[in-house]
Amino acid sequence: MTAAPDFITRLPKAELHLHIEGSLEPELMFALAKRNRVAIPFDSVEAVRAAYSFSNLQDFLDIYYAGADVLRVEQDFYDLADAYFARAAADGVAHAEIFFDPQTHTDRGIPFQVVADGLLSAMHAAETRHGVSSKLILCFLRHLDEDAAFATLKAADPWLDRIAGVGLDSSELGHPPEKFARVFAAAGELGLKRVAHAGEEGPPDYVWQALDLLKIDRLDHGNRSLEDPALVRRLAESGMTLTVCPLSNLKLCVVDNLTNHPLDQMLAQGLRATVNSDDPAYFGGYVADNYRAVAAARGLGKAELAQLARNSFTGSFLDEAEKAAHLVRLDAYVAAN
Ligand code: ADE
Ligand code: ZN
Repeated sequence: MTAAPDFITRLPKAELHLHIEGSLEPELMFALAKRNRVAIPFDSVEAVRAAYSFSNLQDFLDIYYAGADVLRVEQDFYDLADAYFARAAADGVAHAEIFFDPQTHTDRGIPFQVVADGLLSAMHAAETRHGVSSKLILCFLRHLDEDAAFATLKAADPWLDRIAGVGLDSSELGHPPEKFARVFAAAGELGLKRVAHAGEEGPPDYVWQALDLLKIDRLDHGNRSLEDPALVRRLAESGMTLTVCPLSNLKLCVVDNLTNHPLDQMLAQGLRATVNSDDPAYFGGYVADNYRAVAAARGLGKAELAQLARNSFTGSFLDEAEKAAHLVRLDAYVAAN
């Protein structure tokens, strides 16, 4: 059955793959550049948007790390996350698990505390202001080395009671998960959840490594898993959640056209796929835009959309009682709409 146009917007959902630095809209980038007296190589918001044309992941990352330079003080990180939560709430997001890249900031001399405290304050405010709960996931930049990842884990020590897990992002090709096996083992010992980007541009072997060497609890992207039937079986049988990002896949040329996006093929093969926005300010849409775009391109109906939303709650790091409460609300919404 086809869904009503606003069915997607109000559909209760969790967002599980969102880089907070990737939610920096050009308007806020300009405002922060002015506030912090940072020079940026653009003279208008339109010029920034016009520069957002990418042929691959690295093309995007170069501009994404440059954009993050306007983030300097705690208030900047608060404003960044505060703006994201307002957008997420308007998109029916009830719970978000957000990534941050501390090394992007500590390498510029911004203390870990400035970043973490700003984000955590905004997460707290989102709960009261919008009724949106959230968790924080610390990502290691995979183009940097293992020692740098260990140093970041150490810097995070005073905040570990407020950090749900660790992730792995940045340039995938040439930086296999095995490079971070020991730091992920240490994070596991600390009781942190583990997630990793794998199979976005990298081969299925990187997904096997993320499973077997990093012992991930959730797989970010995972698109290229579909090239390996044994891997698809492993992911399906273990109930692994995949955080899929349709507009990101389009903008980074992981798919040539959304009409060829494998999201429904993933569901049909028993994979617990979810829909997420990745870096919404750079890829042209927040989470509901991602649902709408892929639903239109692939002809997804109400049952598939409800399944995707269901997967977003079951694949979250909420506890079982919290998941159950979200699923009750989701089922009631689907029954009534
Ligand atoms: N950092 C931000 N967005 C990313 C993506 N899509 N893949 C890898 N690293 C990222
Ligand atoms: Zn990502």
